[in-house]
Amino acid sequence: ENEANNEFYDTTLNYFRVKLPTELSQPKIAIICGSGLGGLVDTIDETNCNKVEFEYKDIPGFVTSTVQGHAGKLVFGLLGENQTPIVCMVGRFHFYEGHSLKQVTLPVRIFKLLGVKVLIVTNASGALNKDFRVGNVAVLTDHVSLPGLAGNNPLFGPNHDEFGPRFLPMTEPYDFDLRVLAFKAASSLNFDKGVLKEAIYCFVGGPSYETKAEARFLSTIGDIVGMSTVPEVIVARHSGMRVLGLSLVTNMVVLGKGRSADPSGDSGIIEEQPPNHEEVLEVSRSRADDMQKLVKAIIELI
Ligand code: 6GU
Repeated sequence: ENEANNEFYDTTLNYFRVKLPTELSQPKIAIICGSGLGGLVDTIDETNCNKVEFEYKDIPGFVTSTVQGHAGKLVFGLLGENQTPIVCMVGRFHFYEGHSLKQVTLPVRIFKLLGVKVLIVTNASGALNKDFRVGNVAVLTDHVSLPGLAGNNPLFGPNHDEFGPRFLPMTEPYDFDLRVLAFKAASSLNFDKGVLKEAIYCFVGGPSYETKAEARFLSTIGDIVGMSTVPEVIVARHSGMRVLGLSLVTNMVVLGKGRSADPSGDSGIIEEQPPNHEEVLEVSRSRADDMQKLVKAIIELI
């Protein structure tokens, strides 16, 4: 794997160049859709053949996604009233699947080389902040990358100077103007006040969910927790793309202390349910329509 070398990306780029019609070949906006949120691409109008799909398994350099509820395809199309050229990942790659962070973030480098200026990332998350509710849409303001702090960063290894600097400042990962547009879009769609919530996202490696002690620790550093997104954001920022992060809260994280075996200890009632992937997918499905409308409205405002 020699990614610090442009030829590494050329095979993938040429694959798209040969297959894409001119009007789709330079997408302005890339969208990475999380669990159950890929329905956005179904709203691309197909009448003028302005949509082209590629399965990940057919794209050189792409790995394949293995998670239930995360189909694997890349869709190029013209979206909405403005017929904005977009590229959309329906299903993303996760670190916990066993892929390297280079593999997880390869699509973002390809987006950059195709001319993408704005990356919109969506995901599902658990809420650590008790003011949050299931169904809230978190607008990311910042993140804490626990794998990153422990030495797992997609920029690890030789720096590819053509994309960006060796030492990347990360003080503004999520673009302020795009966050403003997210709130404008929600208001224009008459979303209930308080549905959108600014949030700090804690990225954990997964695939096991947090213990209660881990969750209490995370609740002191952020508002929501999830197993994706941050690697893609880092690589996008490295090459100067503007980033918007939207996270659908699918469950409340269990923060309680639990019961004690010590008779003089806390009797501890188990009042909260542990998270499960079915619940995550169910909430995603039930809120997918609003998420799609929101992303679409934001794109119309960009
Ligand atoms: Cl509770 N934890 C993590 N790590 N990821 C999640 C989640 C919880 N809910 C959705 N995604």
